[in-house]
Amino acid sequence: TILKKGKVTWASPSNIALVKYWGKKENQIPENPSISFTLEACKTETELVFEPRNGTHDSFSFEVFFEGEKNEAFKPKIETFFKRIKDYVPFLKQYHFIINTSNTFPHSSGIASSASGMSALALCLMSVEKLLNPKITTTYCSKKASFLARLGSGSACRSIEGDIVVWGQHSEIEGSSDLFGVKYTEEVHSVFKNYHDTILLVDKGEKQVSSTVGHNLMHNHPFAQNRFKQAVENITTMKTILKSGDLKAFIALMESEALTLHAMMMASTPYFILMKPNTLEIINKIWEFRAETGLNIGFTLDAGANVHVLFPENEAVKINEFINKELVAYCQNGHYICDQIGFGAKQL
Ligand code: PMV
Repeated sequence: TILKKGKVTWASPSNIALVKYWGKKENQIPENPSISFTLEACKTETELVFEPRNGTHDSFSFEVFFEGEKNEAFKPKIETFFKRIKDYVPFLKQYHFIINTSNTFPHSSGIASSASGMSALALCLMSVEKLLNPKITTTYCSKKASFLARLGSGSACRSIEGDIVVWGQHSEIEGSSDLFGVKYTEEVHSVFKNYHDTILLVDKGEKQVSSTVGHNLMHNHPFAQNRFKQAVENITTMKTILKSGDLKAFIALMESEALTLHAMMMASTPYFILMKPNTLEIINKIWEFRAETGLNIGFTLDAGANVHVLFPENEAVKINEFINKELVAYCQNGHYICDQIGFGAKQL
């Protein structure tokens, strides 16, 4: 069958890794497993318009609109994505696509939109597949969407579902795979319900080092093998923590993971420092405040200068007050995003 012109729309969130993915093999296979909280507010909304093309074609045909305006900058990334997934999405060349996409977070916020963007597009393509073949199940669609999203941007495969997702084969996580993310179905303590993630935008500029370059720095890295082994162990530790709700242990592990990611970059050839002075100011303020109050505030970082501040719902009032009074001053133009653990992508 070939479909007439139509459209599908998905909203897909970003995610924040607790145990980080850093280093990959061929075909976007991670060197180590990772675990993340799915976010709620930071999302990409993508509408995919599809129109059948006559005849046979050996190239893709698509246009991209970002926040209502035609966007050429995203095209090479999407072209690469399409090339990687074409064997799994046989209808890709039979249609002309119009991709209308926008983010709920500010354009140049330094927030990586690749996870939310690639997962939203993968989900749209799976909705088209479902229209072509109504027999495929929802479970199949979300699993394959995660598989496809991985080929767009590794961490994107953790954005399909929520509230906690594991990507990468791990002996103690049932069903875990290097090929797609799986929803974490082990016991989770209620303290993680509505867990907060306030993202402090320290540097809203272009990323200094693309994640592709970053992952490649793990090839021949002197500490790579130890790091991959440590990540496997940290997933095991995280599993115990998620069950017990031991927030002191949670914070210690999460912060160590963030600093280890940055340490890997400082120890690579060439080397990079991705934190900014204000990143360190914020970290020191968090540590001081935690020592003074005993409150369960902790941070994590992605491969950039922005700081994700994580804390439980029942301490949110006091911690928000502290963030507003002490930390927002270190944000570029005072900008920050209040987010929380979320439940995955939605079809609109
Ligand atoms: O998905 P990528 O290739 O952009 O890599 C992202 C890697 C980190 O965000 C730094 C860590 C992670 O696990 O999300």
